[in-house]
Amino acid sequence: MKERSDIAVVGLGVMGSGIARNLESKGYTVSVYNRSEEKTTAFLEAYGGGDFRGASSLEELCAQLETPRKILLMVKAGDAVDETLQELAAYLQPGDVLIDGGNSYYQETERRMKTAGSAGLLYVGCGISGGEEGALNGPAIMPGGSEAARDLVMPILLDICARTDLGEACCSWMGSGGAGHFVKMVHNGIEYAEMQLICELWDLMRSYLGMDTAMCGRTFARWAQKTPSYLIGIAGQVLQKQDEDGSLLVEKILDAAGQKGTGTWNVRTGMELGVPVSILSAAVQARTLSSRREEREKAAEKYENQGYGGSVVTPEKRFVALQQLQNALHAGRILAFAQGFDLLKTASEHYGWDLNLGEVAMCWRAGCILHSSLLEDIKQAYVYDRDLPNLLMSNPVHHTLQEEVPGLKTACLAALENGIPAPCLTAALQYFSGYTDANLPANLLQGMRDLFGAHTYERTDAPRGEFFHTEW
Ligand code: 6PG
Repeated sequence: MKERSDIAVVGLGVMGSGIARNLESKGYTVSVYNRSEEKTTAFLEAYGGGDFRGASSLEELCAQLETPRKILLMVKAGDAVDETLQELAAYLQPGDVLIDGGNSYYQETERRMKTAGSAGLLYVGCGISGGEEGALNGPAIMPGGSEAARDLVMPILLDICARTDLGEACCSWMGSGGAGHFVKMVHNGIEYAEMQLICELWDLMRSYLGMDTAMCGRTFARWAQKTPSYLIGIAGQVLQKQDEDGSLLVEKILDAAGQKGTGTWNVRTGMELGVPVSILSAAVQARTLSSRREEREKAAEKYENQGYGGSVVTPEKRFVALQQLQNALHAGRILAFAQGFDLLKTASEHYGWDLNLGEVAMCWRAGCILHSSLLEDIKQAYVYDRDLPNLLMSNPVHHTLQEEVPGLKTACLAALENGIPAPCLTAALQYFSGYTDANLPANLLQGMRDLFGAHTYERTDAPRGEFFHTEW
């Protein structure tokens, strides 16, 4: 073992221990620490044969490290990060690098970076995606922060990140400040949307097409095999999983979704930066509504809504209808990505990050929850035109949507006609209709604003930015 450790991992939860083991497997000597010492002991008992060094205090941990120290925090986002940073400060020296690998809110990362900077410390906000399996075998990594830390951390992160089948790394430096955590936040916003779209598709399969759960599972699994998508693949897996008694487990899981808040940050940020994020917002709100389980039960009784069960489409027509649903899901996913990338582009301009959107797509190409072949198309769109105003303006995407939006319309109509909730699918279609409409009725809105509040309006026969008022 080397005399001093190359890097430290603080926090030995599922993600922290996975990353620590991943680092060690790539030849690094890793110091590990967990606030409750039992976890450090358990970790060392399980993996102590490797190049690991345990520490029972942060002071001891810092003394074990090669300088400049590199410390990866894998603690719960929020107060735990601030507490750990405060405690660590006494044992660090200028030039040491702190890397926050949790799901921290990007503005908190910027604040922490300033505090660390005033003590001469370098700070990296590092989005890490991929769950347990990714942490251990290669996650998608989205670092950003102090420029001076870039050359110190990138070689390490490139060693442990996921790689595509072609060997391309799913990790690149996102930019200064909170850029890395911002990109991870948007990753999660799209994750929420994709998951909700998949759930709505399942609802349509069972309620509109009358397919049984296992058949729906096999369908998702088949789709994911043909056009790889991690989330569609695991949807297939979850729908087919049997409980101990042989029945399908999903039927016994309560339909009340949880969330930890990263989805909401997207909606709030979209509102603040003036970016339409209606699909991401629909996904967050669908989870919120689902969690009101008892209220929904009473309302269902009152309005005699029995929920799913009926088959609306005859089995002969099912094949064609299923293809339309598949198109609807793909189109919905593209539209969710369009909103997410719009958020990234707008934030990048606002904060001066100069985000390379092609590289963001590349980062999400493997290892993370969003990984799918669609990311390859999105990467290509931004490699071809780095300044693409919106994903919808890419020619290949235009071509795909022309083919798939009719399926999205069919799915939405089926949902509306049969009382099947489809907030994300309909939000996706509405976003498409609005974004591609050169004659929205907002002129009437402007007229009304001017009438009651002299808010002024722009005219079609005058340059943009020139404002008029009428005595109505
Ligand atoms: C990942 C995931 C993960 C994320 C949860 C979201 O990339 O590995 O995005 O980091 O925190 O999946 O959690 P909730 O659904 O509980 O909000």
